[in-house]
Amino acid sequence: MEKGHEKDSMIYGVRRARGREEPIEVYTNLLVQPPEVASISGRDKELQTARMRHILARTKERLRRAWDRRRSHVDRPASSISPTFVAYMSRYHGKVEGWLSERDAAVCDCLLTFQNRTGILGDLLEIGVWKGRSAVLQALHTRQSERLVLVDPSIPPEVRCVIETAAPSGPTYLEIRSSELVHSEVYREGAGTFRWVHVDGEHSGQAVTNDLDVGNRLLGGGGIIAIDDFMDCQYPQVTRQTFEYISCHRSELQLFLCGFEKGYLCRPEAAQLYLAFLKESFYGEMRGRGHDQVTIFKTAYPSDMNCFGIGARRDGWDYWGPDDDETTIPI
Ligand SMILES: C[S@@+](CC[C@H](N)C(=O)[O-])C[C@H]1O[C@@H](n2cnc3c(N)ncnc32)[C@H](O)[C@@H]1O
Repeated sequence: MEKGHEKDSMIYGVRRARGREEPIEVYTNLLVQPPEVASISGRDKELQTARMRHILARTKERLRRAWDRRRSHVDRPASSISPTFVAYMSRYHGKVEGWLSERDAAVCDCLLTFQNRTGILGDLLEIGVWKGRSAVLQALHTRQSERLVLVDPSIPPEVRCVIETAAPSGPTYLEIRSSELVHSEVYREGAGTFRWVHVDGEHSGQAVTNDLDVGNRLLGGGGIIAIDDFMDCQYPQVTRQTFEYISCHRSELQLFLCGFEKGYLCRPEAAQLYLAFLKESFYGEMRGRGHDQVTIFKTAYPSDMNCFGIGARRDGWDYWGPDDDETTIPI
């Protein structure tokens, strides 16, 4: 074969010829036909022509879909800039030491802002504060009527000072291990009253189960539990424990989003609300926060798994559906 043809052909399948298997090679560049194609005859040639037509039709369809995606990217407006996120990024993120990445901060901000817009009220809890990087974002989202509860064995005065510049009414600090939360007033009195629980403390399997149990008790009907380092290969026990917990509490919690360093759970009755938001607005919201190099995945049908994923941008697509039709986003 001439050198220039190599990248324009692909192995399409295998055929039996003269008692042995040979690859069927299809030339996708129709303008330049290699000498072998001209020499094959009869049924093989018909077969090859039919397959080429099929590949061309599929390629055209893929190109059309890709074009639709790109056009939708151009047409889909970025959401208006979130003032809370602007304040967080400009005043805190780079200045407060911590583990929350910019893109996770953007995802959390999208979800907290959506709760705000849809009137979902409730207290906020964080397990694992460190120097306050994620606590500050949550503090900025805490309304006057809500309480921010921060749990960590150690929350030094200088960390509290930073958090309090973002939370004028002052958070509730609990300097305890999260396993001791069951003895607290928050646990006793707070069942069903929280809209946001950020689990980012001890990363052992046992601690994750404890923290999910606390979150499950405290979470209100429209609330979200965010689990840090979910699906991170550094902490496989976090992923195992989360899935095990969900499968034992199917009627109470559902995973509706995962991506970057976190997984997000909600009550099954609230899942459609969040899934619809992710389908209609999530890309635009991320773009409005400066994160347009992402793709939102929904590669399973609801009967299989009703959960979105967010990851690095793929082939210029904003949204990516199931393998049998990447253009649909079934929820
Ligand atoms: C990864 S850091 C938290 C990062 C922080 N959320 C941020 O955004 O920068 C983990 C924190 O969990 C705290 N921690 C460790 N074990 C804990 C436990 N059993 N209960 C509560 N907090 C714990 C540690 O003291 C540490 O501050």
